[in-house]
Amino acid sequence: MIFDPEPKESRKDFFDREEEIDKIKSLSSPITLVLGLRRTGKSSVIHITLNELNLPYIYIDLRKFEEIGYISYKDLILEIQKEINRLIKRFPNIIDFLKRIEGVKVMGNEIRLKWGGNERVNISFLLESLNDWTENKAILTIDEAQELLNLRGANLLPTFAYSFDNLKKIKIILSGSKMGLLYRYLGKDNPRSPLYGRAMNEIELNPFNKEKSVEFLKLGFKELNIIFNDFDVVYENLGGIPGWLTYFGYYYSQKRDLNEALTKTINSAIGLIREEFNNFLKIRAIARDRYLTIMKTLVNCASWSEIKRALEASTGIEISDSEIYNYLNQLIDSSWIVKKDSRKYCPSEHLISKAFS
Ligand SMILES: Nc1ncnc2c1ncn2[C@@H]1O[C@H](COP(=O)(O)OP(=O)(O)OP(=O)(O)O)[C@@H](O)[C@H]1O
Ligand SMILES: [Mg+2]
Repeated sequence: MIFDPEPKESRKDFFDREEEIDKIKSLSSPITLVLGLRRTGKSSVIHITLNELNLPYIYIDLRKFEEIGYISYKDLILEIQKEINRLIKRFPNIIDFLKRIEGVKVMGNEIRLKWGGNERVNISFLLESLNDWTENKAILTIDEAQELLNLRGANLLPTFAYSFDNLKKIKIILSGSKMGLLYRYLGKDNPRSPLYGRAMNEIELNPFNKEKSVEFLKLGFKELNIIFNDFDVVYENLGGIPGWLTYFGYYYSQKRDLNEALTKTINSAIGLIREEFNNFLKIRAIARDRYLTIMKTLVNCASWSEIKRALEASTGIEISDSEIYNYLNQLIDSSWIVKKDSRKYCPSEHLISKAFS
């Protein structure tokens, strides 16, 4: 069902994005990046791809670590362990390849990975043994991979670079809703990064324009045999983020009341956005009020000097250009705002603007 609020697993429940899914499926580079604002459908296109490719895969979602603010090596290894044990159920002979690696313990039909001490498991070796084992290809997917910036006690970039250069059968798919952070993490353009200069298969999921948003709603309502015509009002209120349109369709189909469905969608969206912004502020507690002032100032877009004036007025002290530059860059890197051609700074989508008005 198109209006199911969960991430989708199959194209029959998914609208459009044919080209994007096919491009991910091509696995045309050892590393594929799936980029897009929150709730544009990244997890869905990844699940659909994995289901359609029918290759052995490991899928790790780092979203839950966003709230905690960091990921320990143990957390990461336990996630990988769970996924490898899921694979072993389907392909028991993987164990023969894994058991030779330091830090891998075989316990009957399962493995345990050692995450601490001096013989802790090395993820490069795990990938290498999957590469040796698999006949065709195997995929490592990390959803919300920019959270790896907060991985403590290990660095996965050398592993990615090793895999990129040497493990021909391993394909890596990384998704990111904080696109600037993901690029910064990977350092493709940074000569000091292990991944410097590597060409990646990049797919960006843009929000729907008005035409696509209407088409999306039409298809979803048609599937439910609901007659609906207020497309303009919905687009004006929600914009073109597929996730919000999905929530709207879901709420509307329950009570068939336009205003109630819009209010419910907007309220739950604003709740989520504020919670996520609080996570962003958690590790920036000292500048909390400044970030909030900036977001409030630019709900209808604002220029650099307007932002500077508002910040200085609220703090009662001169604020240097480099500080402002830093605040704006952090907001851009985490996809809260975008810099438009007009040189104005704007919220990256309509409901982010609403959440701060
Ligand atoms: N093209 C689409 N067709 C049908 N439903 C969609 C489409 N795109 C997104 N959705 C729906 O929107 C919601 C968000 O999608 P999904 O979780 O895949 O996006 P995401 O980019 O991974 O979001 P997040 O940033 O929250 O992780 C889900 O309910 C999903 O089913
Ligand atoms: Mg997701």
